[in-house]
Amino acid sequence: MSDITSYEVADGIAVITIDNPPVNAMSTAVRKGCWAALEQLAADDSAKAAVLICAGRTFVAGADINEFDKPIEDPWLPALVEKFEASEKLIVAAIHGAALGGGLETAMGCHYRCAAPSARIGLPEVNLGLSPGATGTQRLPRLAGVRKALDMMTSGRPISAGDGQKAGVIEKLIDGDLREGAIAYARELLDAGAPIKRVSKLDVAAEGIDDGFFSEYLQGLARTARGFFAPEQIVECARAAVNESYQDALKTERKLFEKCRASTHSQAQRHLFFAEREVAKIPDVPKATPGREIKKVAVIGAGTMGGGITMNFVNAGVPVTVLEVDQAGLERGLGIIRKNYGSAVKKGRMTEERLEQAMGMIAVTTDYADIADADLVIEAVFETMAIKKEVFTKLDEVCKPGAILASNTSSLDLNEIAAVTKRPQDVIGLHFFAPANVMRLLEIVRGEKTAGDVIATAMATAKKIRKVGVLVGVCFGFVGNRMFFPYVREAQLMMLEGVSPERVDQVAYDWGMAMGPHAVMDLSGLDVFNKLNTEWKDRPDDPVYYRMCMALCEMGRYGQKTGAGIYKYDGRKALPDPEVMEIAKREATILGVKQIEVSDEEIIERMTCSMINEGALILEEGIAIRPGDIDVIFVNGYGLPRYRGGPMKYADAIGLDKVCNAIRKYRARYGDLWWTPAPLLEKLAAEGRTFQEWSESR
Ligand code: 3HC
Ligand code: NAI
Repeated sequence: MSDITSYEVADGIAVITIDNPPVNAMSTAVRKGCWAALEQLAADDSAKAAVLICAGRTFVAGADINEFDKPIEDPWLPALVEKFEASEKLIVAAIHGAALGGGLETAMGCHYRCAAPSARIGLPEVNLGLSPGATGTQRLPRLAGVRKALDMMTSGRPISAGDGQKAGVIEKLIDGDLREGAIAYARELLDAGAPIKRVSKLDVAAEGIDDGFFSEYLQGLARTARGFFAPEQIVECARAAVNESYQDALKTERKLFEKCRASTHSQAQRHLFFAEREVAKIPDVPKATPGREIKKVAVIGAGTMGGGITMNFVNAGVPVTVLEVDQAGLERGLGIIRKNYGSAVKKGRMTEERLEQAMGMIAVTTDYADIADADLVIEAVFETMAIKKEVFTKLDEVCKPGAILASNTSSLDLNEIAAVTKRPQDVIGLHFFAPANVMRLLEIVRGEKTAGDVIATAMATAKKIRKVGVLVGVCFGFVGNRMFFPYVREAQLMMLEGVSPERVDQVAYDWGMAMGPHAVMDLSGLDVFNKLNTEWKDRPDDPVYYRMCMALCEMGRYGQKTGAGIYKYDGRKALPDPEVMEIAKREATILGVKQIEVSDEEIIERMTCSMINEGALILEEGIAIRPGDIDVIFVNGYGLPRYRGGPMKYADAIGLDKVCNAIRKYRARYGDLWWTPAPLLEKLAAEGRTFQEWSESR
């Protein structure tokens, strides 16, 4: 037995305990320990039955994801699960916290399952680009039925222990001490002469589950999980559960699991799993840094962003005071918030009563004195330096000492804003993304003088309002917009070169983007992009740069909000507008831009490589801490598909030499201005290394 699994016998019932913090992942050592415990159980005459339980905060949360890239050591998890099931002595799994992935599979290998009412169970492998691989695809349909099992496996969403009981996965809920309750349950089963229930021997209830059911299910997934590889494999495993013997279906499960494991999708999604946890680690701000208490928040400016930001805090139970220039501004802002909540009520996601409660947590004012006691102030006024400075000067005058003064600026120099205050250490950027109450990303911008505890508080606040906070440094556009701008720049130039916006958008969409670049611009507003480009102090002089955006703005075509932009609009429906390509042709002639044939591959290559090159500069400059941080920004804020892993992971996957060669090719065509390879990229490409390897070696 190892340190992380133990075996003891209490009153004729063996208790096998797994203790592998933090989440009792089924590492090789745990598998070996469990194997040995099962051998001991078989040979132990003093034990008539056993309980499998975990120490710490949770039951087994899955296979150890760190081991997926290494050769698998014996015993494999599927073999271990089968060994649990084969035991001649009855085994009860006792679940608390979460039984996920390989954890639930192990529990389903046991003969009975009991759980604390607060426990959750699920097969979330799909989130890692995997199908369940340790008999779960065959056991869950036998216990919960094919449809329920498929819903759980393809969504990856865990269910509560109570729902698990209703679904037939859990036999008993235990209030109070789980260990004692589970031992008592095992004894009760023994006393009642309960059979050793082997899930693999159960029939799959397949009534109404035919080919039509599976093809309909696949059609649904084509919409909800567009482009992802694993969900389809999961459906095939469920089909095998219905059509094949248990043993044959297990072979199908193994084959498809291995196919998923080796896929670029799974590599990308596993990378994101770790990257999304690593973003919280700031090298010079230790985890134990005490944060400041945030009990009252003030938001300055109740426009598009201010309203959404307010909702985030209210939803997390923190009262907000909103400050505007005048009463009309306040009424407009409150109206938008009420409308947003109202649509949640209409969709049945919120009650009328909760709406009123939420609105009751919002105070409004036009007087700075009313926000003097706020712990955190977030400024979301117009993106104009002079106005931002005016606001921060006032905040510096009125806010209590220790208050955190944050700006939602999307591009302006935070250090310049902080410099108008006598407390630059308390100033930070909190860059929300539109719509601020929906988008998960929060770029946390660290100024030159921002204090460590202010950063720690911002990171904790992001978590509290259910955002993914990523710390970045100060530069034009920070990380997200700075990298998104070259991507859009290429899409813009392609219009001048004769490539229709709808084609570029379709190619980007097929590559997996939530929306194509032109559709995004129309949604955000071409005027917003124009303004940001105008605010960019060091913008290189290039008449071609974003020329279409400017030309359309000059015609009052700002996008969806004016009924026309790059597309024209019938309500919210985008329609291709031939006039736009005529404008593009005219502009191209004036600017001397050649009309060229652009392949689908080139569309993706130019848009992604321009972005990756900027990402390499960002890493060199230390604006982002790790390549994984950039990836987290793009999948959470810019609609990049998770199965690409983010721009930097995508670059690593296709090879940095390939990226570098593409950039050199476009440099030869377009010149040095936008296409000089970043020195870090060139260096890593020459060394045959990846961004990830570079990051880990520092
Ligand atoms: N393997 C290895 N490490 C894991 C892990 C796993 N399955 N699950 C979590 N961890 C690590 C995290 O990386 C993190 O490490 P860190 O502290 O060094 O950053 C630590 O455990 C704590 O994790 P969280 O920060 O996520 O803690 P939370 O309390 O917020 O959440 C959790 C706990 C709900 C269990 C969450 O960690 C989770 O969802 N884990 C993944 C579950 C999963 O996907 N399981 C399936 C694995 S694949 C599988 O089982 C294949 C099988 O079918 C063969
Ligand atoms: P907006 O124009 O919708 O709202 C700005 C609000 O600020 C208006 O209601 C205005 O009345 C108010 N305001 C202006 N000056 C003020 C002052 N001195 N005191 C108090 N209130 C004042 O603008 P939006 O889009 O909400 O942008 C706000 C900030 O958020 C900008 O810095 C912008 O760059 C940033 N941002 C915008 C995003 C977007 O997609 N709209 C995304 C991310 C950041």
